[in-house]
Amino acid sequence: MSEAKRLAGEKAIEYVEDGMVVGVGTGSTVAYFIEALGRIKDRIAGAVSSSEQSTKRLKELGIEVLDANAAGPLKLYVDGADECDPHKRLIKGGGAALTREKIIAEASETFVCIIDPAKQVPVLGKFPLPVEVIPMARSLVARRILELTGGQPVWRDGVVTDNGNWILDVHNLRITDPVKMESELNQIPGVVSVGLFARRPADIVIVGGQPPQVL
Ligand code: 5RP
Repeated sequence: MSEAKRLAGEKAIEYVEDGMVVGVGTGSTVAYFIEALGRIKDRIAGAVSSSEQSTKRLKELGIEVLDANAAGPLKLYVDGADECDPHKRLIKGGGAALTREKIIAEASETFVCIIDPAKQVPVLGKFPLPVEVIPMARSLVARRILELTGGQPVWRDGVVTDNGNWILDVHNLRITDPVKMESELNQIPGVVSVGLFARRPADIVIVGGQPPQVL
């Protein structure tokens, strides 16, 4: 695992305040944040988790995992990303947890995104864009995505999300207007969520390094 990811994950602990319920993302960068959270677990009230994977580790560390409905609005959400543009708009969902991640991002006052430098891009789209779909709509959604974007949707065969759905990864995109694309793809019947975090981007981005860079 990369040192840059560790440095970003550990830096994010500075945003955790006493008594908080912390929104927790998914992935290898967040894994470092979760470990650091475990070290201060007595200072927090618990976590709302974006995946079964993160829930498992949080519980192993003795951190209470709360239901999102019961927790209500959150002050802080910490999560990674697959790509980040200069406006803090993101592609997420490489770990197939995009829908729950989007729900928690929307519920949170401050979204701190933790990345390694390789995730920084001038324009989103080199990383294939994940789209979570209802299984029966897979080929319909794939056809519509091709018509709308010109990108090539590829079924992430064998992957079932925590919500029981499937993932299409859309290749060969150059996303010059991510807010527009997010909204257009969200309109296709059968789309559960789109891995573009543009309408609700990150508020703070921490790029792992020595020292970490806070944008
Ligand atoms: C999971 C995500 C992750 O945040 C994203 O894939 C980055 O993962 P990593 O920190 O392992 O590079 O969106 O759905």
